[in-house]
Amino acid sequence: MEKIETAVRNAVIRGTGHYIPPTVLTNADLERMVDTSNNWIVERTGIRERRILNGDREWGTSDMAVAAARQALADAQMDPSRLEAILVATVTPDFPLPSTASIVQLKLGASRSAVMDVVAACAGFIYALSVARAFIVSGVYRNVLVIGVERLSSITNYQDRNTCVLFGDGAGAAILSRGEPGEEDKGILSTFLSGDGQYKDLLHIPLGGSSVPLTAKNVDQPGRFIYMDGREVFKLAVREMADAAERVLAGAGVSADDVDMLIPHQANQRIIEALGKRMNFGPDRVFVNIDRLGNTSSASVPIALDEARRSGRIGPGSLVLSVAFGGGLTWGAVLYRL
Ligand code: UT7
Repeated sequence: MEKIETAVRNAVIRGTGHYIPPTVLTNADLERMVDTSNNWIVERTGIRERRILNGDREWGTSDMAVAAARQALADAQMDPSRLEAILVATVTPDFPLPSTASIVQLKLGASRSAVMDVVAACAGFIYALSVARAFIVSGVYRNVLVIGVERLSSITNYQDRNTCVLFGDGAGAAILSRGEPGEEDKGILSTFLSGDGQYKDLLHIPLGGSSVPLTAKNVDQPGRFIYMDGREVFKLAVREMADAAERVLAGAGVSADDVDMLIPHQANQRIIEALGKRMNFGPDRVFVNIDRLGNTSSASVPIALDEARRSGRIGPGSLVLSVAFGGGLTWGAVLYRL
């Protein structure tokens, strides 16, 4: 019988980068804004400070994305002209139209690449990475820029102590490329994505979309900011992130013990610890930066990935597991070898 050879392509992470704004918002600052305390915030979330894109710098989401992307391109030693697609995961686009990816393309000088935003809240980077991988393994594209970026300060109600202590701004980026001969054991080994719209109101912005547009009457309402039922989201987050992690491990036929580093979405120190405990990961195998950056939604995983690489905690050959969970509800996991 004739043997048909199918080229199996893999998608490897060629470079990473990140950007965090210089302005620091501390728990002491928040104590002056809402009825909260440093003790409460640290005990319940692990957060000590977060970064905010200050209004006195005329920057938006796309500028943070471009700064992270430039670092990732330099790391990959790649000219922007070689990018065939740019995927930007964000819930805080520069504008409703066009996509932030279009603006990033222009600012990077990466003309003619495919451009699109991926909206999956805190799971956005995991979603975008999975889409990029699908493009690469199917042979559609060779080099894809994937960015997770948020200016959450622009949709945070700084009078709502339930949410304003949590969020920060920032961007992370990764270049995903088709693996070369000899790189067969590197790259994304398995992915899992899921979601459940029945929980859409647990974490949402009720006003300002096409369903309930902003008007002169409602523009001052808190509904134009993020609302979250933290307690409910917390319960679901731990359960579904653990399930997603198990699925990608099973998909690649490896055990949790084989993983060098868990790089989870940074929503709450207690969620990260609960996940680590369930999966038997000690603190030495879990990357945490929530104390310095808070929850940056879709930017949290790529920022953490870049920090983990640049600090030497992971390097070539490391097996990394990333898991995230957010509004939608959405969740997912990616297992990859650097
Ligand atoms: O990234 C996307 C996914 N997001 C998440 O995964 C976030 C998941 N949720 C959480 O991280 C936690 O639920 C929070 C950090 C948001 C809240 O922590 P919690 O331990 O679940 O607190 P809680 O909502 O059960 O509130 C406990 C109490 C309440 O007071 P009462 O009703 O018991 O009197 C809150 O009003 O703490 C109060 N509280 C605060 N107190 C001081 C809520 N926020 C604050 C605050 N400072 N900032």
